[in-house]
Amino acid sequence: MALRKIVLKEDETLRKKSKPVEKFDEKLWTLLDDMAETLKKASGAGLAAPQVGVLRRAAIISLIGEDGEEDKIIELINPEIIKSSGTQRDIEGCLSCPGLWGYVTRPLKCKIRAQNRHGEIFEIELKGHDCRCAFHEIDHLNGKLFIDIADEMVDIEEEK
Ligand code: CO
Repeated sequence: MALRKIVLKEDETLRKKSKPVEKFDEKLWTLLDDMAETLKKASGAGLAAPQVGVLRRAAIISLIGEDGEEDKIIELINPEIIKSSGTQRDIEGCLSCPGLWGYVTRPLKCKIRAQNRHGEIFEIELKGHDCRCAFHEIDHLNGKLFIDIADEMVDIEEEK
C-alpha cells in the first residue's frame, strides 16, 4: 500500500465526470488499498478516486461505528443512489478543499447499489453522516464539489 497525493480544488481533474470501472483487477485493488491508507492518514470521512487523480467511479467511505465498534471502510464501485428520503443540513468539508467548511443540505437516508472490488453487486442503506458522505463522494464522481452547493461557508480556525 502507498499514500497517494490528494488533488486540490483548483485541479481540473476534480471537475471531470469519472468513467465507470470496468476491470475489477489488481490495479483497482491497489487503488482502493492506497485510497484507504490515504484516507486514514488524512483522517477523512471519505475519498473518491478522482481526488487521487483517477477518473473512475470508485469511492470509499468510513462508516461511523455503532457503540463500541470501530469505523469501517466500505468500497463503492460504480455506485448509484436508488432511493433517498428526508433532508439534513450540516457542516461539510473535503480533503481536496483544506480549510474550507460549509453548510450543505443532503438527504437524511439513502439506499445505494454498487459493486464491490470483485464486481459483485450489493445494496446498502445509509443514514445521517454516512448518507451525507455517500452523496459527497458520488458528487466527486460527477465533477461536483461541496463548495458548489454549500449555502453558507463558515470560518473554523482549526480543522475539525
Ligand atoms: Co470531498
